[in-house]
Amino acid sequence: MTDHAALEADLTARIAAAADTAAVEALRLEALGKTGTISNLLKSLGAMSPEERKAQGPAINGLRDRVSAALAARKAELEAAELDARLAAGRLDLSLPAPPRRKGCVHPTMQVMDEMIAIFAEMGFSIAEGPDIEDDFHNFTALNFPPKHPAREMHDTFFLRPGPDGERKVLRTHTSPVQVRTMRKSNTPPAAAWIAAGQEPPIRIISPGRTYRMDSDATHTPMFHQIEGLVIDRDIHMGHLKWTLDQFIARFFELPSVVTRFRPHHFPFTEPSAEMDVQCEVSGGEVKIGQGHEWSEIVGCGMVHPNVLRNCGIDPDQWQGFAFGFGVDRLGRLKYGMPDLRDMFATDSRWLAHYGFSAFAAPNPASGLS
Ligand code: PHE
Repeated sequence: MTDHAALEADLTARIAAAADTAAVEALRLEALGKTGTISNLLKSLGAMSPEERKAQGPAINGLRDRVSAALAARKAELEAAELDARLAAGRLDLSLPAPPRRKGCVHPTMQVMDEMIAIFAEMGFSIAEGPDIEDDFHNFTALNFPPKHPAREMHDTFFLRPGPDGERKVLRTHTSPVQVRTMRKSNTPPAAAWIAAGQEPPIRIISPGRTYRMDSDATHTPMFHQIEGLVIDRDIHMGHLKWTLDQFIARFFELPSVVTRFRPHHFPFTEPSAEMDVQCEVSGGEVKIGQGHEWSEIVGCGMVHPNVLRNCGIDPDQWQGFAFGFGVDRLGRLKYGMPDLRDMFATDSRWLAHYGFSAFAAPNPASGLS
């Protein structure tokens, strides 16, 4: 017993005097390590008679517990003191420049859409939207597509599995269904007398959005973006269409004027129909607008077909107008020179860092578009 008391007194005194955490650790090994003094006492219990063990056991275990507690307390005390000393000695230099951070940026397609919206907004167009998942009526039937038109085939268009009612929805193949939605809304009676009616003709809208077709090469991606335009009024004619598109193109390419040409074309929902090309020069994979002897097709357009007006409850003898549909990604490619359209949606951040735009310079006609 006196041995234990002496051992405890010696250890406790040396623990209290330990100068640093390393000294505490050395004392812990001396007492409680594999062959430490207290560990040896604990081991000796095994060789004792049951009576002896009964007497010695609690004493030795108590000794171990008190010494462990003393070691832990001193260690905590020294660690706190060491931290205080480090904090008192150390200095934080707040004048060091922060490491550079990667900035996000605006995707060229979104930038081009914003530029287009800014120009059309200035001309008095408002924005209409429609769903990406369309029904056959809005995407095809109301737009005067005949039942066997190739766009209704699986190899051209993404169809969803038929719903419970057997209806097969489509990923819209163009933004033209928004024409139908806008015109039909215009003659739907308001839900209550105090609710304003939908837009009646005259209508002047654009509709930016995503569109989908089964196509993939350097100039086609299965998902792409369009901006639809629709103008319906009493005396609208092809001249208004040509002026609007010509004005738009010059503003968009930020040139005093751009040479364009209208080529006859066919769309089921316009009559007459045309495609507009801009004059450009293609050299070494680069396209320059406003010069050269080549043509790049940028927009499909035409006068809204009387059947479409009728399908939307608008009287073609009273109202008429034009519609157009721009490929946004393709326009962006012409303006900013990306070689392959597919890279635009490959989500490669290096590509985006190269072609992207600052989020803090939203295009507007006053301060500049790009
Ligand atoms: N919807 C046509 C397309 O995707 C473009 C278009 C829109 C043509 C409006 C005429 C009028 O190709």
